[in-house]
Amino acid sequence: MSDHPISWHGKRVFLTGHTGFKGGWLALWLAKLGADVRGYALDPSTDPNLFTVARIGSVVEDIRGDIRDPAALESAMQSFAPEVVFHMAAQPLVRASYDDPIGTYETNVIGTARVLDSVRRTPSVRAVVSVTTDKCYENKEWVWGYRESDPLGGYDPYSSSKACAELVSAAYRQSYFPVAHLAQHKVALATARAGNVIGGGDWSQDRLLPDLVRGFLAGEPVPIRRPFAIRPWQHVLEPLRGYIRLAEQLLSTNPEQAARFATAYNFGPHDDDAKPVGWIVDKMTSFWGDGANWFIDEQEHVHEAGYLKLDASKARADLGWIPHLRLETALEWLVQWYRAWQAETDMHAFTLAQIDAYEALL
Ligand SMILES: NC(=O)c1ccc[n+]([C@@H]2O[C@H](COP(=O)([O-])OP(=O)(O)OC[C@H]3O[C@@H](n4cnc5c(N)ncnc54)[C@H](O)[C@@H]3O)[C@@H](O)[C@H]2O)c1
Repeated sequence: MSDHPISWHGKRVFLTGHTGFKGGWLALWLAKLGADVRGYALDPSTDPNLFTVARIGSVVEDIRGDIRDPAALESAMQSFAPEVVFHMAAQPLVRASYDDPIGTYETNVIGTARVLDSVRRTPSVRAVVSVTTDKCYENKEWVWGYRESDPLGGYDPYSSSKACAELVSAAYRQSYFPVAHLAQHKVALATARAGNVIGGGDWSQDRLLPDLVRGFLAGEPVPIRRPFAIRPWQHVLEPLRGYIRLAEQLLSTNPEQAARFATAYNFGPHDDDAKPVGWIVDKMTSFWGDGANWFIDEQEHVHEAGYLKLDASKARADLGWIPHLRLETALEWLVQWYRAWQAETDMHAFTLAQIDAYEALL
């Protein structure tokens, strides 16, 4: 039985951030489902990068542009006449946000407003999924997972910019796409808050798994900043399936049904998979082998949350979404991905094979 209540075949999808880690995986998955995808993003920010390594450009239309450039963005969206918009483009790194707070706010807050404003003037759009993060909540350093109804906040510029992006989305929904009048304006807008996403194809700086893989490949011990910090780790395919499911509900032809889902959703792992950094590092060292090694970096670091968990009960109840990969398996898949890349495997085919393997679990 298909996991999808609607057919994606021929659906026109406008995806911001397709040159990034999550966007690359989503582009490939949507294309595999038969969607007609136009990506809009800056050039890949790392070398290597998933976009090039997995030849994402071979299955999606690749437009390079800035979400802060209203004319270019609007023209790229309007000329494509998409039915669905996934908004993922962002400056997504906490530490980079300390170095460039203004750029982070411009991209994550104004950029989100620009995307939603373009949606206002693109009459074909029916569903919008705007991607924020687990870090958009006011962090109370408590043991419970945050719920969608908890206060937004954010200590550092990245986290607070994503909380702002949530507020921008909520304001656009209430002002221009109100759920009570969905039958008239026809746009169902939701936001999605995922956990700490891991998987093959991420080469970002100052993210735990890419830092580990880089160090292991170079044969150098990896400095670890916060071995006791707890994060809701999850394989990239888990939240992506959540975003796809959410879009499928937003696309419902019954406006009352679509309106039910035009809200915020958390997509987090099983409670047991919110693990300390040190646990991940130990598992990775043993899965990688080859003398992989690490040490605790004792330098002063910028503030980052110590304890962060997400409660995904709402996604489970409304969307029937549950995680399918335990963290240990997610790490194995990640190691297999980078090992395959190291062995010069065809990474387009390998990435698709991991999507196949994930779909087989559903
Ligand atoms: N990776 C995670 O752990 C994680 C967790 C929760 C949420 N998120 C969110 O998921 C989304 C994707 O994250 P990622 O990890 O794939 O990041 P990434 O850095 O790999 O990709 C970011 C994408 O955004 C594009 N981009 C950045 N600034 C832009 C601009 N001004 N105009 C146009 N495009 C721009 C980049 O070109 C790239 O395509 C982000 O919104 C991020 O905040 C990521």
